[in-house]
Amino acid sequence: MRTLVIGSGGREHALINALAHDPAIDELHAAPGNAGIARQATCHPEAGPIDNAVAMVTLAEEIQAELVVIGPEAPLVSGVSDALREAGFAVFGPSAAAARLEGSKAFAKQIMKDAGVATATADELNPGVSDAEIEEILDRYGPIWVVKDDGLAGGKGVVVTPERTAARAHVDAVLAAGNPVLLETFLDGPEVSLFCLVDGETVVPLLPAQDHKRAYDHDEGPNTGGMGAYTPLDWLPEGATQTLVDDLVAPVAREMVRRGTPYSGLLYLGAAWGAKGPAVVEFNARFGDPETQPILSLLKTPLGEVLHATATGRLSEIGPLDWADEYAVTVVVAAKNYPISPVKGGEITGEGLDDPAVVLHAGTSRDAEGRLIASGGRVLNIMGRGKTLVQACEEVYRNVDKLQLEGSFTRSDIARKAVEGEIRIPE
Ligand code: GLY
Repeated sequence: MRTLVIGSGGREHALINALAHDPAIDELHAAPGNAGIARQATCHPEAGPIDNAVAMVTLAEEIQAELVVIGPEAPLVSGVSDALREAGFAVFGPSAAAARLEGSKAFAKQIMKDAGVATATADELNPGVSDAEIEEILDRYGPIWVVKDDGLAGGKGVVVTPERTAARAHVDAVLAAGNPVLLETFLDGPEVSLFCLVDGETVVPLLPAQDHKRAYDHDEGPNTGGMGAYTPLDWLPEGATQTLVDDLVAPVAREMVRRGTPYSGLLYLGAAWGAKGPAVVEFNARFGDPETQPILSLLKTPLGEVLHATATGRLSEIGPLDWADEYAVTVVVAAKNYPISPVKGGEITGEGLDDPAVVLHAGTSRDAEGRLIASGGRVLNIMGRGKTLVQACEEVYRNVDKLQLEGSFTRSDIARKAVEGEIRIPE
């Protein structure tokens, strides 16, 4: 099966690596890809912007793709999957209408309300709202304010803060950019990412994982796209995955079918597990990054057939997925000054850079001399697996120590709270 993966980050390298191990996949292409992906797939940086539907359809036609997998949210929200489907391709990724679950937080709230799933209470403010109305709504929220840009903001749209001035500043910044802004109640409890393959009303969950969104140890510093993740989560209650599917994901999938915009692709549930049970923090319309990296490293079912079945309306024919009975941890190597103004161009050296079981590439490319250089904020995803979470952590940090990129940093506490038994569901 000739397969094209659209995107260039660590998530896409994890997808490419899993697809490369599927005997049904005989040709792999990526647009644009990165330096690590280039060792496992033919990269097409010349194809043009990945959210340009004409460019992506032209590339899929050139390579006669039998499956197209769309990694990031921007091409999904802008309708690239619709254009590819109209051109006759099997596409893994929701339509633009269904990707609104990620593209508009206000739309997602309405769907959750109609589907009857638990989520934070929210109020929406639109550009032109008066100063007094903003202050009145800020009065009603807090002492931790959750302020969300309604639209896509490349990981910079959400501010969670105990400081009212910081909350007000984010409200003002989002409104000034011409976007609606949502204020939400803060959901207490540890966070879970559950990725589900969804094909209409059929929902097949992957392993639950936990991301670490803050830049620095002890969950300090600015929010990032994610600095590391691990799976599975031993601290979840018995039957947690099925509860998340039954209570939060399946009702939304049914509601999308009822509205005539069925979901097809990967639906990412971000949930907080509080005293009253789990509630939705967010839905995303794609695999998460970096959780995909450890999750797919444990997947034993060939990925290509699963994605193709979803893309062609046959997910119900696929049984439960098969997983290695292990733990996996990913630690992100970030460039100096990430996420504010990451320093690009530094040379990356060390061991494991050509082994996707050790390193999955994210923001990497080659310079004119062929040196491997940092070309993004999140540069590398270092991998570790083990029979226990402790062993997986030991391995991942041994692998981190083998790599050098001047000025780069990692968190040293990925999965530590889970290892130390410090994650508790509030009572
Ligand atoms: N891990 C966060 C995200 O993918 O949005």
